[in-house]
Formats: sequence, C-alpha cells, structure tokens
Amino acid sequence: MFELNEGIIQVSYIIATILFILALGGLSNQETARRGNWYGIVGMSIALIATIVGIVTQAYVELLVALLLGGTIGLIAARRVQMTQMPELVAILHSLVGVAAVAVGFANFIGHGGDYEGTMKTIHDIETYVGILIGAVTFSGSVIAFGKLSGKIGGKPLLLPARHWLNLLLLLVVIYYGYAFVHQSAAGGGLMPLVIMTVLSLLFGIHMVMAIGGADMPVVVSMLNSYSGWAASAIGFMLGNDLLIVTGALVGSSGAILSYIMCRAMNRKFLAVIAGGFGTSEGTQASGGGEDQGEVVPISAEETADLLTGAREVMIIPGYGMAVAQAQHVVHEITQALRGKGVNVRFGIHPVAGRMPGHMNVLLAEAKVPYDIVFEMEEINDDFPEVDVSVVIGANDIVNPSALDEPDGPIGGMPVLECWKGKTSIVLKRSMATGYAGVQNPLFFKENTRMLFGDAKETLEGVYKAL
Ligand code: TAP
Repeated sequence: MFELNEGIIQVSYIIATILFILALGGLSNQETARRGNWYGIVGMSIALIATIVGIVTQAYVELLVALLLGGTIGLIAARRVQMTQMPELVAILHSLVGVAAVAVGFANFIGHGGDYEGTMKTIHDIETYVGILIGAVTFSGSVIAFGKLSGKIGGKPLLLPARHWLNLLLLLVVIYYGYAFVHQSAAGGGLMPLVIMTVLSLLFGIHMVMAIGGADMPVVVSMLNSYSGWAASAIGFMLGNDLLIVTGALVGSSGAILSYIMCRAMNRKFLAVIAGGFGTSEGTQASGGGEDQGEVVPISAEETADLLTGAREVMIIPGYGMAVAQAQHVVHEITQALRGKGVNVRFGIHPVAGRMPGHMNVLLAEAKVPYDIVFEMEEINDDFPEVDVSVVIGANDIVNPSALDEPDGPIGGMPVLECWKGKTSIVLKRSMATGYAGVQNPLFFKENTRMLFGDAKETLEGVYKAL
C-alpha cells in the first residue's frame, strides 16, 4: 500500500532504539520515571508506524483487526487492574511474548522453511529452534508465575525427587532433538522434533517456576522479564527485524541486571534460585509457626498518635499491606502533620517490599510523598538505634528478625529492615497471619513492639484524626 524509503525506516529504527535506551535510563530513578515512560511511548509509536507503513506489504485488514483487538484488550486490562494485581498482569504479559515467539517460529518454519539453503538454512533453523525454545519456557513459566502471584497456585515450591537430574535430562533431550531438527529440516522435514521440543520446553517452564518458593518470586518475576526480552529478540532474528532484536536485547539484559539486583537484595545466588527450594522449611524449622513466642501487645490509634507526636525520629516501613489497603494517601497526610510538628519522618524501603520491584516507590510517588525522605534499606538500616518510633505498615517478611537469627530458615540470609533496634515498633496489620513467605514473625512478640490491628487505611485514618 505504502512505500517508505529503506533509509527512513532505518533512521526511524535508530531513533526508536535511542528513545528506548533513554526510557530505561529514565525509569531507573523516581524523579525521571515519568519522562522515561514518555520516551518509551514515543519510541514504540515510531517503531510501530515505521514497521506498519514501511515493512508490512500485505494483509492490512488482518493487521488492523489484530491491532484493534489487542489494543482494546490491553486498554481494558490496564484500566481495570488494581495496583495490587500489577505483578500478575506483568507476568501474564510476559507469557504473551513467549507465545508470540512460539507462533512466529512455527509460522516461519512452516511458511518459509524452504526459502533458504545450505549454511543459511542451518543458521535459520537454529534461530527458529532456539526462539521457540525460549518462547515456550517463557510462556509456561510466566503462566505459573501468574498463578503463584495471584494466589491461584500455592507459594510452596514443588520439589520433585531428583529434580536437578530431571532438568539435566530435559536439557540433553532438547539438545538431541535440536540436532535431529536441523538434520531433518535439511531434508525437507523436521516438524516432529520441533513439536516434541516445544512440549518439553513447556514442561520445563512449568517445572522451573513450580520449584521456586514464595520468597524467591521477586527473582522469578525479573528473570521471566528477561526471558521475554530474549524471546522478542529471537522473533527479531527469525523475521530479520533489527529493531526487534535490539529492543528484545535491551529488555533481556535489563531484566537480567534486575534479577541480579534482586538476588543481591535477597542475599541469594542466582543459580540457587533457579535450582529452587527457597521458601520451604528445608533445613531447620521455620520460626516456631507462631506458637510459644510470647504475648503480643496491642495499641490503639490514639496511643499511636501520642507516641508519634512525642517522637523526634520516625521511620515508616511500608509493605504489601499498604498496597492492599491503599493507605498511601493517609500515610502522606500523617507525614505532613508530623513534619509540621517538627518530627523528622523518613521512609525505609526494602528492595522486595510489596509484590514487584519498586512497588512501594510507585505508591508513595502517587501519594506525592517527597522523594528526599524516601530511603533504600541500605541507606538507613544502621540508623534504627536512633529511631524513636518505626511504623510498619502492612509489612511482614521484610522486617522479620528470623531472617538474621535463623540462617537455615525459609527466609534465612535475606537482609531485613532492623526496626526492632529502635525504641518502639508499631506494626499495622489485620491479624497474626504470616506474610508471603509463610513464616511467623518474632518481631510481633518483642517487648518494644506494639500491634495496631485492623485495615491499615482505617487504623491510619484513626491515627490522623487523633493527631
Ligand atoms: P508480606 O510479607 O507479604 O506481608 C504483608 C502483610 O500485610 C501481611 O502479613 C498482612 O497481614 C498485611 N496486610 C494485608 N492486607 C492488609 C491491610 N488491608 N491492612 C493492613 N495490613 C494488611 O509483605 P512484605 O513485608 O512487603 O514482603 C514482601 C514479600 O513478598 C516478600 O516475601 C517478597 O519476597 C515477596 N515478593 C516480593 C516481590 C517483589 S518483586 N517485591 C514479588 C513477589 C513476592 P494480615 O493478613 O494480618 O493483615
């Protein structure tokens, strides 16, 4: 329909690539995140227009229908999704990239497998094989991650006997079928080994994520993010589209860096996470399961307000429960009120607080909490001895002392915010239920801890009124 000069397409692709890099740079900091998002939106628009106008040469009606359908579903999903469901949405979106890689791989092989000869054919077949493999693992792994993050599948890791041997066996079989595929494809066949490998890869994705325990899910989310990038890159290779290769590689490598950061935050080795099992009670038993840990001391909203007013240093530690309660706005109001009274209020953010990287930062930014009082765990963890009151809002695993006291426990070794070293900790939650990792928290039973039971938004509104 249209003819766009090859040069213009290349220039558009380069501009889009630069914008994607600027987007990643922008998203690495709260203050520039909004700008980063815009770079991404503009870059993607340029990429889409250049591809549709310049590269697509037929089937415009199908393309339009697919764009409208996908766009509408995406718009509705984005509008409907609650902030707490964001991680599940991200997981299921990753699965779509995986399924796209599988579909493109098969379509390309069936429709264009005969277009190449000799070495080019071998290279093309290997691209197809690897692309489908990554796509299938990304797809099934992301679907299981979606199930785990939404609570449809339990957080406990599934530990099959000899699971490492099973994984190794799967890998060897997949390599064998890769060889068979390239061989048969040269003779005009090859569909069967491709199908068998796809089924095995799907099983591998399921097994890999099922074996990973609740507390390791942050790493899984970023790892699947990375896989989805490599899957997109693989599609780029199959279609010979440079922009898709580069964009996929950007997502793949930034996801890999994020996985590394998450591993460091959890004090875990990447390979150990992939091997699975973290978040179980393998090793020594988890912290007592809640029995015989002593008494908890409840506190009222009015008493909390009194303690806060009398404090000089207050540390607010938000967790997943703040997102559930949507308490971030009243948290901001309380912060303003206390700062007005001369209290120094700071926020301590654990790297895996909530259910996705940066979850708490997004909520606090939404409520317009100033960035300069929001600190990373590493920056403020040594300051707790000087803190008068720590307010733990719907956080649990990230303030669990057993992570330090029981190195072999389910969350053993994970750095946590050591609020119990301050004068008083006030924990806001609805019950004595455990957090995501399913571990009881000895913090609740400490002498200098007070429990403010109830929905965090309601209790904090009570505190604000009393202030
Ligand atoms: P959690 O350990 O999950 O604890 C959240 C607490 O909030 C629960 O104990 C719950 O207790 C309370 N809560 C829930 N709704 C509430 C409400 N409406 N009002 C008041 N309290 C409420 O959260 P965390 O401390 O933020 O730790 C995060 C956990 O999630 C870690 O284990 C982490 O590994 C995992 N995870 C993180 C990510 C990322 S990337 N951040 C991804 C996947 C998993 P009640 O039910 O008693 O109220």
